[in-house]
Amino acid sequence: MTSLSILSTTAPLRVATRPQTYLFLAVRTYSGVAATTLNSSCLAKQRPSPLTYTSKRLISSTPKPQIKEFFPPPENPAVKDVASAWSHPIYTDAQMQSVRIAHREATDWSDWVALGTVRFFRWGMDLVTGYKHPQPGQEISKFKMTEQKWLTRFIFLESVAGVPGMVGGMLRHLRSLRRMKRDNGWIETLLEEAFNERMHLLTFLKLAEPGWFMRLMVLGAQGVFFNGFFLSYLISPRICHRFVGYLEEEAVLTYTRAIKELEDGHLPEWNELKAPEIAVNYWKMPENQRTMRDLLLYIRADEAKHREVNHTLSNLDQAVDPNPYQTEYQDPTKDHPTKGIDNLKATGWDRKDIF
Ligand SMILES: [Fe+2]
Ligand SMILES: [Fe+2]
Repeated sequence: MTSLSILSTTAPLRVATRPQTYLFLAVRTYSGVAATTLNSSCLAKQRPSPLTYTSKRLISSTPKPQIKEFFPPPENPAVKDVASAWSHPIYTDAQMQSVRIAHREATDWSDWVALGTVRFFRWGMDLVTGYKHPQPGQEISKFKMTEQKWLTRFIFLESVAGVPGMVGGMLRHLRSLRRMKRDNGWIETLLEEAFNERMHLLTFLKLAEPGWFMRLMVLGAQGVFFNGFFLSYLISPRICHRFVGYLEEEAVLTYTRAIKELEDGHLPEWNELKAPEIAVNYWKMPENQRTMRDLLLYIRADEAKHREVNHTLSNLDQAVDPNPYQTEYQDPTKDHPTKGIDNLKATGWDRKDIF
């Protein structure tokens, strides 16, 4: 059974009845910081863990709450399974633990264009989602990220992260058709990256349900980002891959921070939370590695892979070089484009140094 089929047929049902909670959204203005309290319907509302739900039902005499499935199974009774072409490789625990926050030094003006754009996007995202993180030595209590805030951030980011691979893959596909030439392996890697990011999004949507405000933000962001990235990729695919490489550096940083907060006990609702079935099946998670922490480790490893792949693709001649992740060379002793990043270095921010 493939991962995509599991997505639509065996996803667990979760109840969507939870006491109304409120999320705190900090909105900065030019004159200072204004604080706005938004009803949770505006942002992602965390779904209750099955554990919490079960214990509550044991002592409850109220009618059973309505069960809501965000992505319902296919309604066609004739469909038993839907196959997927992309099966996720199995990560070892050692591979996932070895992921480090890292940065590829910008070496020319085009790198700086990509890096500057990512830093600008990150600043805007932090502003909009109220994300803050303490610098070394600062108190964490001042920068409290709740489970809901993390999920809101993850959902928004993953909805955007699935765009570049699809745009790049689509444009290279069209170029191959137009010029009647082979693409040499880029299209599959790019489309698979987009699929992988969508699986991240679908996984988080099993844990939280976005409200109307979040949906509006996703709609607007997709409209702007898709068109912007499409035009940019037509002009310079090399800068676009560098941009994604830097974006993925930020993704690794974000997930590393979330994992650290969870391990330090700042996200208690996730202590007992199990990874949704869609995730268990997609990543083929072993039985003893299905916690929320494990899930974040899997996703972070994916982001680290995207970081490596996109920095590598950016180093290549976009029109000529084959994709080294898909290519077997006739004569491996000769010089060829290779995997890996020229100057990606761990920044010294090991997990213990994050705060
Ligand atoms: Fe992702
Ligand atoms: Fe990613």
